[in-house]
Amino acid sequence: MEFPFDINNLFPERISTLDRNLGSGCEASRRPEPQDQIATVINELGRASAQAQQLAAPITSASKLRYSNHHLFLLKEGEGNGGRGVVVGFLKVGCKKLCLLDRRDAHVEAEPLCVLDFYVTDAMQRHGYGLELFDFMLRHRQAEPALMAYDRPSAKFLSFLAKHYSQTERVPQVNNFVVFCGFFLNGQGKVNLCTK
Ligand SMILES: CC(C)(COP(=O)(O)OP(=O)(O)OC[C@H]1O[C@@H](n2cnc3c(N)ncnc32)[C@H](O)[C@@H]1OP(=O)(O)O)[C@@H](O)C(=O)NCCC(=O)NCCS
Repeated sequence: MEFPFDINNLFPERISTLDRNLGSGCEASRRPEPQDQIATVINELGRASAQAQQLAAPITSASKLRYSNHHLFLLKEGEGNGGRGVVVGFLKVGCKKLCLLDRRDAHVEAEPLCVLDFYVTDAMQRHGYGLELFDFMLRHRQAEPALMAYDRPSAKFLSFLAKHYSQTERVPQVNNFVVFCGFFLNGQGKVNLCTK
């Protein structure tokens, strides 16, 4: 994904971690103009992700990120667009309080780290970029795929989780979140039983 400004200047690292401050860690991002450019990148990625998932409206935008405690990991390739760099994709995660069903259909309350949005630009899919983003997030958050929840994962994402992280056995839920068997195997599900 190309932009009419310098992506390498805006995002010096190959993978940048953005939070509610839209900070990319570079000095320039604290000035107003780069902040607008970062917002443009996030909004464009959010739109493309919604389109790819056939959602009615984006679930990721700069304003939504500003009013959340979510983290967005943004991956670029520094070489493209005449050396100005191109944006490859993003992964957004955050903690959510969820009421889940365990393997015996008992209600369990948990607050796992959730994958909320995930997108690699169409032409760059199936080249390992998604895995690079996901692995980076796991290290950054010291997370494990089996202990996370996944908000309305697409068929492509489910295939991705099966291929790279052997997450295949889902525990049926009544909400849009997907969790796998391992979620309930380590005692995480034993805390905070729901009353309803
Ligand atoms: C899901 C997604 C982020 C994965 O990123 P990626 O860079 O393509 O993933 P990787 O190259 O690291 O891994 C490839 C694996 O992902 C899955 N995958 C990726 N694209 C796929 C496609 N078009 N059809 C089926 N599976 C696909 C497959 O398991 C694939 O392995 P394979 O090529 O051996 O079948 C990316 O495909 C995407 O953006 N899809 C559209 C948006 C989307 O569905 N997002 C999930 C939101 S919940």
